[in-house]
Amino acid sequence: MQLNMVTLVQLTYLILPQMIARRRGGILNVGSTAAFQPGPYSTVYFATKAFVLSFSEGLWQELREHKISVTCLCPGPTRTDFGARSRMDRNWNFIHGSMSTDAVCDVAYRGFRRRRRIVVPGLVNWLLAFSVRFSPRIAILHLMQTWQRPPKASP
Ligand SMILES: NC(=O)c1ccc[n+]([C@@H]2O[C@H](COP(=O)([O-])OP(=O)(O)OC[C@H]3O[C@@H](n4cnc5c(N)ncnc54)[C@H](OP(=O)(O)O)[C@@H]3O)[C@@H](O)[C@H]2O)c1
Repeated sequence: MQLNMVTLVQLTYLILPQMIARRRGGILNVGSTAAFQPGPYSTVYFATKAFVLSFSEGLWQELREHKISVTCLCPGPTRTDFGARSRMDRNWNFIHGSMSTDAVCDVAYRGFRRRRRIVVPGLVNWLLAFSVRFSPRIAILHLMQTWQRPPKASP
């Protein structure tokens, strides 16, 4: 929570005054597809990413008149140390759907240059993220619980 939310806000407000004064600049925040729905068993992490998305979108709108863009990158599973560290690499969607860092960074940078509000790399990630809008919340919660449930420890 400290890193994903408090530090992000502090860094943003450190650099924004100079950008506003110059009427030029851009911010690329790293959210996640976790931002689009709650994630049972990784509940705090998902909630912090929802914060990153909401904060970034709010600023995107506020700062348009200052010619500053704020892009929220929302990657799905990506092959970094994160999978092992968070133990998410045991989950089905991590094993079957992860992207390379090169591919994610390429899409992110292009989206940032185009001053996009949200960038979701990968068609499947994009479809999953946006289908959430049209699905009953309770169905999403059940689905996420199934996806996120940690495997039972072997005896
Ligand atoms: N990989 C994915 O599947 C995925 C998907 C969606 C979003 N993301 C997001 O992408 C971002 C980068 O993650 P990653 O995949 O590159 O994971 P990673 O390989 O585990 O890297 C995380 C980085 O964060 C640093 N870090 C961790 N705790 C810190 C702290 N308290 N203060 C300062 N630095 C800290 C680590 O530094 P040390 O190495 O020194 O510990 C490391 O450089 C994160 O915001 C993550 O939520 C990742």
